[in-house]
Amino acid sequence: MSEPTIENYYTENRVFPPPPEFQAQALVSDNSLYEEAAADRLGFWARQARELITWYRDFDTVLEWELPYAKWFVGGKLNVSYNCLDRHVEAGRGDKVAYHWEGEPGDTRTITYAELLSEVSRFANSLKSLGVNRGDRVAIYMPMIPELPVAMLACARIGAVHSVVFGGFSPDALADRINDAEAKVLITADGGFRRGSPSPLKANCDVALANTSSITGVVVVRRTEQDIDWTEGRDHWYHDLIDGASEDCPPEEMDSEDLLYLLYTSGTTAKPKGIMHTTGGYLTQVAFSHKYVFDLHPDTDVYWCAADIGWVTGHSYIVYGPLNNGCTQVMYEGTPDTPGRDRLWDIVERYGVTQLYTAPTAIRTFMKWGEQEPAKHDLSSLRVLGTVGEPINPEAWMWYHEYIGGGRCPIVDTWWQTETGGHMITPLPGVTATKPGSATFPLPGTTAEVVDDAGNRVDVGGGYLTITEPWPSMLRGIWGDPERYMETYWSEYPGRYFAGDGAKIDEDGYIWILGRVDDVMNVSGHRISTAEVESALVDHPAVAEAAVVGAADATTGQAIIAYVILRGTATTSDELREEIRQHVSKKLGPIARPRVVIVVPDLPKTRSGKIMRRLLRDVAEGRALGDTTTLADESVVEEIRRREAEGTAED
Ligand code: PRX
Repeated sequence: MSEPTIENYYTENRVFPPPPEFQAQALVSDNSLYEEAAADRLGFWARQARELITWYRDFDTVLEWELPYAKWFVGGKLNVSYNCLDRHVEAGRGDKVAYHWEGEPGDTRTITYAELLSEVSRFANSLKSLGVNRGDRVAIYMPMIPELPVAMLACARIGAVHSVVFGGFSPDALADRINDAEAKVLITADGGFRRGSPSPLKANCDVALANTSSITGVVVVRRTEQDIDWTEGRDHWYHDLIDGASEDCPPEEMDSEDLLYLLYTSGTTAKPKGIMHTTGGYLTQVAFSHKYVFDLHPDTDVYWCAADIGWVTGHSYIVYGPLNNGCTQVMYEGTPDTPGRDRLWDIVERYGVTQLYTAPTAIRTFMKWGEQEPAKHDLSSLRVLGTVGEPINPEAWMWYHEYIGGGRCPIVDTWWQTETGGHMITPLPGVTATKPGSATFPLPGTTAEVVDDAGNRVDVGGGYLTITEPWPSMLRGIWGDPERYMETYWSEYPGRYFAGDGAKIDEDGYIWILGRVDDVMNVSGHRISTAEVESALVDHPAVAEAAVVGAADATTGQAIIAYVILRGTATTSDELREEIRQHVSKKLGPIARPRVVIVVPDLPKTRSGKIMRRLLRDVAEGRALGDTTTLADESVVEEIRRREAEGTAED
């Protein structure tokens, strides 16, 4: 590990115990879950699995563990869509609202559990009619509309494996993911509404499909009614399919370890990893954590996770956890500033939202917009606030606590990853005294430790975050690449799962996540690999070589700064730099577009030719240079500094 962990700037001494009024009504307000799990971790998870899930066949063994491969609830049979839908309807809760959905233009839909079951069943039959069988992969590229959870649950119902690709990704990114998974069917929409205009989802699919060969059918939901191209025989309207489909679609009995979904995430190379999640263990942990971390009272709560389902947060905490737990949710299609900067607070007030789960980058944006926006609305229905995706700075935590939570709502800062499937380090709101900026302690039944470079446990101080025991919702591998699975997660510190994050433990045992320590940037809570952006940059005809770093940014956490060396004949200009930025956006999606492109004559490298991103980060963040003893040519950095100072940078 050549990069140091991210410096820790704060010593935070404020402590917020759960308010007594909150504790009085909380599902748990003492250490009983922690104690039970510590005494018998596997017994604890077995109890959760049996209490929270309905099994067709009970499991024989809780865990089979042969590092790095885990099998949870071995021999158990279940269906995730049955657990999320049928059993609630069978129990007489069919009329309960599953989703209060709100489109960006202001249109709304109220969908009950019975209606959701009916639509999922009809669409599951539609997928079968398109030749989708158990085990087949289905790509989903959709806006935040109800048909997105319907599509995922329909796959789960028939045992097909979904691979949701975030709607903001580019056609290239979509094609790569379709090809890697060899997806058979693609489900999309004509577009979705973002900041008042329709996104070109179907058009992007048409571009992507020119570079794929596995897709035999495309299903298109009509949302924006914009004009789209149509390929006869391949493309099908969603409404035509479900109109003619039967509502009778018995759920497949799946094995606990059958694949539920793939979700691609960035790593340290340019190729995204297809993270594999299976059925029984995944559902158990997301259901457990959703219930206890948000102190769910399903009869009265209106829970809202404001993430996009294209990321793991939406998979686990908009679709599977909450529906398994039978709660009522809010789901919103658009951006938080359309039509006004109080859109979220307006939604909270109108639906009486009780739990709000969002990201630090959003909270910092709300802070920037000012407290007069939430003050326009009655937010007194809120009980618990959550954050996820990146470290939350204490200032943003305090703002969230005061202006959104009215000082009375516990904040759960939940650390986890696409790979972990569900929450791992987080407070329990009725139990944990929180400290602003700390994710606090491992969830009952999970175990985390901070280690030093040599892999020795650190009891107080900084180091690398590791997980010491397998957990039910852990990834089961990387699709098609077992070596990379072993290499990425299990080889850095033998016997431990290495998360790629730096962390420190304070004197009270609280865990503070310090950010990524590998070549992965965290922009607005989303992981983007430096290698992926670099390969998009050198794909531009004028770029010979490129290095990118994530530099601290007040709103997005990190912003991407790209250093490029031009090819012989190319000369720098504002137009060219803008063109290069847009090129990355086109290749990967707007989220990966560098904030600035800086043209440099050379890049700082070690004598063995490895780019020293640490030095580039120092330059980008205006710091004194760290250790330069391994740098081959010191003048390179001085030249880069000069170019930055000259203002080749732009915003
Ligand atoms: O660096 C950590 C950061 O997000 C990474 C995981 O990203 P992803 O797989 O996209 O999943 C995001 C949503 C679960 C982690 O390695 N991260 C996530 N949550 C937190 C966090 N960093 C600090 N505090 C958190 N609460």
